[in-house]
Amino acid sequence: MPKRYRMTVIGSGYLGITHAACMAEAGHRVLALDIDAEKVARLNRAELPIHEQGLGDLLHRGVRSGRLRFTTSYEEAGAFGEVHFLCLGTPQRPDGLAADLGQLDAAVDSLAPHLVRDCLVVGKSTVPVGTAERLAARMTRQAPAGARAELAWNPEFLREGFAVADTLRPDRIVLGVRSARAERILREVYEPLGGEIPYVVTDFATAELVKSAANAFLATKISYINAMAEVCESAGADVLQLAEALGLDERIGGRFLRPGLGFGGGCLPKDIRALWARAEELGAGPALGFLREVDAINLRRRERVVELARELVGGSLAGRKVAALGAAFKPDSDDIRDSPALAVAAALERQGAVVSVHDPVALDRVRKAYPMLNCADSAAEAAQDAQVVLLLTEWRQYAELAPGDLAAEVAERRIVDARHALDGARWRAAGWEYRAMGRP
Ligand code: UDX
Repeated sequence: MPKRYRMTVIGSGYLGITHAACMAEAGHRVLALDIDAEKVARLNRAELPIHEQGLGDLLHRGVRSGRLRFTTSYEEAGAFGEVHFLCLGTPQRPDGLAADLGQLDAAVDSLAPHLVRDCLVVGKSTVPVGTAERLAARMTRQAPAGARAELAWNPEFLREGFAVADTLRPDRIVLGVRSARAERILREVYEPLGGEIPYVVTDFATAELVKSAANAFLATKISYINAMAEVCESAGADVLQLAEALGLDERIGGRFLRPGLGFGGGCLPKDIRALWARAEELGAGPALGFLREVDAINLRRRERVVELARELVGGSLAGRKVAALGAAFKPDSDDIRDSPALAVAAALERQGAVVSVHDPVALDRVRKAYPMLNCADSAAEAAQDAQVVLLLTEWRQYAELAPGDLAAEVAERRIVDARHALDGARWRAAGWEYRAMGRP
């Protein structure tokens, strides 16, 4: 019988809620903390504040069984946990490229004074290399238990939209530990997940870097194919066929080789910037200088879609009606952090276009964060009188649109398929002017 722990999860965002619910599902007793009292109250009623496949059911089961609770009290968390997971956000600093570690520092400062007995504090957030070492010292200084409150680093690799599956069946578990005890506890924590999960047991710095390096690699792969899309566009070649042929080489592989509007979200963009900024601080800036190019290629995709839209409506966007299909940074998520789709919509609006946005799940967030954009309840409503339609997030319901579905609504049959989600030949045959980046 695997050992069940009493654990806390500090920070109830995408990562924290998922980790807490999955750990409860695995049989542990979990107390999750957030400083937002309203969010905590909702979570205790098993109301999920985010859109994430399968997580609602897990939350419900955890709360109903009593294995999962939420609190705002660090005192309660300190008294409860044998293991404490730090799942705080590390967004980009407003004044530069580096990560803002304010939430993480504040969490350690709030938790440490309540660590009165043996426990393991485990960082899961994505952080600049060197953070764990600094936090370990900061914690020992403030914890009544002193060195008996130990730190470990265990980065999280989950993808939004697949967060539950990725947490319950991870590709690998990376443990940055300073003692055999820390390793044993973490192996016991994950033992109920079963299966043959590979472990990489290492030091703090390597564990921290694995996560940044993985995200930088994925971002580079996406920007690589998007750079090729630029070349294809100049050469009259077809980037989709190019990507298909590249992906068939097993050494390259076809995953994360989808060209289009590029990467966004709460991780990839800020993580490559933070990694580069940290390398600079360490004197290794030149090694990662290419990440600036990866970022620039990615941002150029957004500009290119704006340019295509402008071209299609005759050279000026002023007063033009644009339908934007998609707001989330990727399908199956309501996350709009650094969303390429919304960056395009907002840029069009700044250039005078009247933009109507539809998204299957993210519109509430759009209304709050982008009050200047019009929100439509359906793709058809967004397309009403549009002079150009832009497909910006490849939600399945957009990919399944037939050319006839929007024909009666639009003023002009013009579409930019920024995610290569549609069959261009079919749309052209139905009388649409169809454009996609990197295709003839
Ligand atoms: C990413 C990492 O995949 C995950 O391991 C890490 O823990 C957090 O960051 P996530 O941000 O949820 O996960 O999304 P992901 O599926 O990686 O997609 C990132 C962005 O890249 C999206 O905007 C997506 O549309 C874009 N993308 C992805 C492409 O443009 N092309 C691709 O081939 C793949």
